[in-house]
Amino acid sequence: MEAMDTTVSPHPRRMHNSYEDEEERKHFQRIVAAFRYYKTHSLLRVRKTESYFLNLPTHHQKLLSKYKEHLQEVKRCIENNDQIIKLIIKDVAHIFENVCPSTAQIDSILNPRSVMADQEKVQATIRQLVRDWSVEGAEERKACYQPIIDEVLYQFPLEHCTPSDVHILVPGAGLGRLAFEIAKRGYTCQGNEFSLFMLFASNFVLNKCRDVNLYQVHPWVHQYTNNLKPEHQTQAVSFPDVSPSDLPGTAQFSMTAGDFLEVYTEDNHWDCVATCFFIDCANNVVQFIETIYKILKPGGIWINLGPLLYHFSDLPNEESIEPSYDSIRDVILGFGFQLEKEKIQVKTRYAQNINSMLQCEYNSVYFVCRKPHEPDTINRNGAASNGAQEQEN
Ligand SMILES: C[S@@+](CC[C@H](N)C(=O)[O-])C[C@H]1O[C@@H](n2cnc3c(N)ncnc32)[C@H](O)[C@@H]1O
Repeated sequence: MEAMDTTVSPHPRRMHNSYEDEEERKHFQRIVAAFRYYKTHSLLRVRKTESYFLNLPTHHQKLLSKYKEHLQEVKRCIENNDQIIKLIIKDVAHIFENVCPSTAQIDSILNPRSVMADQEKVQATIRQLVRDWSVEGAEERKACYQPIIDEVLYQFPLEHCTPSDVHILVPGAGLGRLAFEIAKRGYTCQGNEFSLFMLFASNFVLNKCRDVNLYQVHPWVHQYTNNLKPEHQTQAVSFPDVSPSDLPGTAQFSMTAGDFLEVYTEDNHWDCVATCFFIDCANNVVQFIETIYKILKPGGIWINLGPLLYHFSDLPNEESIEPSYDSIRDVILGFGFQLEKEKIQVKTRYAQNINSMLQCEYNSVYFVCRKPHEPDTINRNGAASNGAQEQEN
């Protein structure tokens, strides 16, 4: 997959052989197909409930007349979401140089086995718009992104450096808000993401949304359970809460598409790597940590915040290791990082519907560690001797 810049035409980072290109083209088409299938799939779900409803005893139906109206509203919300989805996928064929899907092929490659998983991801993408680009997501961003932004400002004070000379990488950037906020403060910031669901949506927000709150989605419309009020399911959320084009003229902000492990191979390049809800997205988390260590300049820092959900854990046909945070800490120190700050039980949420009767909260870990100016050979051989210099709870 080629690199995607947020504001200018794409510039390729890697060459691909035709096999890779063919695989990538098929993958691209599958994701476009998933977005296009959203409305049909979502309406089928409502219709299933409606048909059961119509088989209920008439007096039950009468008692549930408001619920019946609510299902009509749910269908309207799905239609509205579909309008946004149409905008998101409108020009995606031009995002990358090496994939140009023809519309004819898209329908034919719809694979029923992956339909459910892909529809979950379409829905998660809609919810991610709330986390990253809505007023409703502000509290969540304050808990997850602000500690990272504050640390960047602390490590690279604007008054003591030329921020555009500070190169910061945000792997697993999602819809790009954290990377955007870092770039907004003047740093040179690059977000990296490999999910086309996210890349299509971030391309839409970052390159097409020219004003605030231009669009609305209904992020919780697929949550049929744990609703206190019907309007909690159908709530509309406006986005973007800020204009993504509102970056200083000097801002250096880009997004790259591709696997973090494959795209970032240049050693000693970055001043800072900032990861938020990311390190648990690896089959082998040690490989992520090793790569972060390698690509940081000597003296560079890694800021991390998030849980250890281990996304590949127990997935069929996937391999995974799931070390506890204590083990991760040993690995970090074992590579030679110096742990400068550490905080556990940081209360964080992820694309949470705050009105739901079901709430999920992570006791995340936050840490800041530094690649030493001189490599620590003892630690690199595996002896984890370095404790945190500053430990908070
Ligand atoms: C849990 S989400 C977090 C997104 C964002 N950082 C946030 O806090 O909202 C993790 C993201 O990392 C991306 N990701 C996972 N593995 C990746 C990899 N190897 N290279 C690039 N992106 C990856 C996923 O597609 C997903 O968007």
